Amino acid sequence: MAEKTVDHSCTLDKIISLCKRRGFVYQASEIYGGQAGAWDYGPLGVEFKRNIQNEWWHYMTQLHDDVVGLDSAIFQHHTTWKASGHADHFSDPMIDCLECQARHRADKMIEDFVAANPDKNPGKPVDTMTHEEMENFIKTNINCPVCGSKEKKYTSVREFNLMFKTYQGPIADESHLIYLRPETCQGIFTDFKSIVQSNRMKIPFGVAQVGKSFRNEIIFKNFIFRTAEFEQMEMEYFCKPGTEDETFERWRKDRWAFYLKYGIPENQLKWHHHDKLAHYAKDAYDITYNFPIGFEEIEGIHSRTDFDLSQHQEYSKKDMAYIDQEDGNKKYIPYVVETSAGLNRNFLMFLCEAYEEQNVAEAGQPEDYRTVLHLHPKLAPITVAVLPLMKKDGLAEKAKEIQNILKEDFVTDYDQSGTVGKRYRRQDEVGTPFCVTVDYDTLDSASANFNTVTVRNRDTMAQERVKLDELTGYIFNQIKNYNK
Ligand code: GAP
Repeated sequence: MAEKTVDHSCTLDKIISLCKRRGFVYQASEIYGGQAGAWDYGPLGVEFKRNIQNEWWHYMTQLHDDVVGLDSAIFQHHTTWKASGHADHFSDPMIDCLECQARHRADKMIEDFVAANPDKNPGKPVDTMTHEEMENFIKTNINCPVCGSKEKKYTSVREFNLMFKTYQGPIADESHLIYLRPETCQGIFTDFKSIVQSNRMKIPFGVAQVGKSFRNEIIFKNFIFRTAEFEQMEMEYFCKPGTEDETFERWRKDRWAFYLKYGIPENQLKWHHHDKLAHYAKDAYDITYNFPIGFEEIEGIHSRTDFDLSQHQEYSKKDMAYIDQEDGNKKYIPYVVETSAGLNRNFLMFLCEAYEEQNVAEAGQPEDYRTVLHLHPKLAPITVAVLPLMKKDGLAEKAKEIQNILKEDFVTDYDQSGTVGKRYRRQDEVGTPFCVTVDYDTLDSASANFNTVTVRNRDTMAQERVKLDELTGYIFNQIKNYNK
């Protein structure tokens, strides 16, 4: 009989299983069979997601003197979306199978088909195909991916607007129409003048924002990759017309550097240049990451021209121009370079990149695998776990005392159940970079190791004896000097 081999690579299924098992992400409304495109972030997931968001915020605002923050409302006046172009243009091409009624995104259906059949391609990039070209290609080549029907009976391709809409108040008419925002940045544009005036901002400057966005996507796919409700981390950088190209290049470099800083290797990232541009864009690149499902977008960098501010000026009849005191009081509508990252896709990327099933057996010993997340310590949901060697003899009390000190500066966990080896494995699986173990020497005034603990490093598994009064500083230093 052939020997059964175990696949130790990272797959999306393994990430989904880990997320559920260890409280990172659950299917929303699971007890009712689940809500499509919606996910709940559990106790560890919420810490991890917040850490990614905090590091992004720190990087974009604290490390860039010329970027300030904003938290605008999800509900904006409905004219906002008319002006931005979303009410009329924010749509995807869809096509339905007439056999099983499954709805597909026509462009993605072609992309998936071509990826599996590279010799059968439409001869041009999918994002430049007309509806008719997509329809002909699908009807000639593609069996329904859901029911597998070879009849290739489909509806025509038509556009589907992705915005969720409802009515505010009891009257369901046009004037009460309200949308759930499909991107966070429009609040930055509508607040542009207020930000300039209240904070005496001088061009060039940026405004950063993190928040929920909503899209009624035709298909929700690949766990938290494409969902109805998600979070964006966006920054709009306002600059003088004519300087947008150099600004665009600068932000492209800067955003790429962010991912390297937090441990994504360069060979796992790739640029994707847009052939077909969104209605507002002059140029656009995506940063894509090599997920287990292939290279997919995590962030878009867009040169948005003066489109948004000009549109809001036209629709609101309010002057959106900036008066440049440093250039002879010249009046102009600033140009905009946008960096727009998905928080949930960053979450998935950092998990996939960190995941390893590592054989930790000594040479000559049978294989012994641990699952470990090599997360950057600033992103890990728990920074330090405190473990008493035994529950008895005052070790648990001492460990609690140490945890209470560490709590002031770090997210901590306390675990006293099972062998220390098993407890290390549990912490490895959720990416805890430091385990502090309290043993008999810690308490023994006659021992050379009195008032010290061992600190175990998640990645190297090496243990070091550290004095209790130096423990906080030691951990801070390890985080500061972390290098994957
Ligand atoms: N303001 C520009 C804008 O929204 P986008 O390329 O449509 O640009 C930016 O979106 C980022 O938002 C994407 O790179 C992706 O990370 C995230 N994103 C977009 N749609 C998403 C969805 N349905 N589910 C999860 N993340 C999404």
